Amino acid sequence: MKISGTHYRTIWLTAAGAVRVIDQSRLPFDFAVVDLDTLDDAAQAIRTMVVRGAPLIGATAAYGIALALRADASDAHLEYAARILQATRPTAINLAWALKRMCSALGGVAPKDRVDVAFREASAICDADVEQCRSIGIHGLEIIRGLANTAGGRVNILTHCNAGWLACVDWGTALSPIYMAHDAGIQVHVWVDETRPRNQGAALTAFELGAHGVPHTVIADNLGGHLMQRDQVDMVIVGSDRTTAAGDVCNKVGTYLKALAAHHNSVPFYAALPVSTIDWSLDRGRDIPIEERSPMELTHISGRTSSGSIETVRVVPEASPALNLAFDVTPGSLVTALITERGVCSASRAGLLSLYPERGAEWPIPLAR
Ligand code: MRU
Repeated sequence: MKISGTHYRTIWLTAAGAVRVIDQSRLPFDFAVVDLDTLDDAAQAIRTMVVRGAPLIGATAAYGIALALRADASDAHLEYAARILQATRPTAINLAWALKRMCSALGGVAPKDRVDVAFREASAICDADVEQCRSIGIHGLEIIRGLANTAGGRVNILTHCNAGWLACVDWGTALSPIYMAHDAGIQVHVWVDETRPRNQGAALTAFELGAHGVPHTVIADNLGGHLMQRDQVDMVIVGSDRTTAAGDVCNKVGTYLKALAAHHNSVPFYAALPVSTIDWSLDRGRDIPIEERSPMELTHISGRTSSGSIETVRVVPEASPALNLAFDVTPGSLVTALITERGVCSASRAGLLSLYPERGAEWPIPLAR
């Protein structure tokens, strides 16, 4: 996508061989890039959320392997790097997916050739993500077009967290159909959940929608239900950090409450995700590991003061403990449909199998929901 007329991906290789990323911890006030030169740089960027969003976490981990091998291409170091990167964040399955793909691409390769193969594979992961997100956009566009035809032209879409191009390599998952609809001349307006505690909606989704000229309004996380009751939301589209083989959707905390409100108000609720977000090994959403982050993200809030400096202030009494679980799970039964790069399907095992029939062989034992 474009920032001030220049096309960017969220991660790319520089001519000097560094992995360059947009520093998302500085958005929306400062658009800056940072170079990752080592395994530690890559791991730290994921851990501290300089990069974040499930597909981008996977892409960064893939490059992290390549950077690690540049220092030491032995089997032992490959295993070590995969362990370090895997430990950075627990919920987004794209991380494990990318590490597995890198390790299997590198397994039979002689150490002297590994660096080249690793960079090529990481770059292929990025290119595939761009294509998948573009396809998600094309499939989702048809849903928005259908709503535009019935809703009299303007479509109000609510989204939670940031599942746009900043969360991926380009295009985004939940926002890709929105960009395509906007570019196709459909009048879309986006309700952007602020997404406390880290404010990915207020900071990142608002930033990228604004940069592309998509009309949007930032709302408090708890306003969505009220807007749905007043017929001011035509659809919800969210991304996902991990979707189980049975269609349960794990995404940024607060997604589940939006799905409940949408269900109660008969508002269609979609989750958009590429194949790398599907955890074929899990059936029940409750088995997904939920990341617990620092309580400080909850007890404090950062922003830009009128003098231009970024400051962090405390908003919770000193003595009050805080619990910061970063994700929740929306059962497939509350999801109208999944939008994937292969098309739209019900959020169920049968739905996913209809799009990914080749995965059927991996489920020899039928699991009850
Ligand atoms: O904690 P984050 O910012 O990495 O969480 C991101 C989300 O929850 C996104 O909605 C998700 O990764 C969707 S992927 C495009």
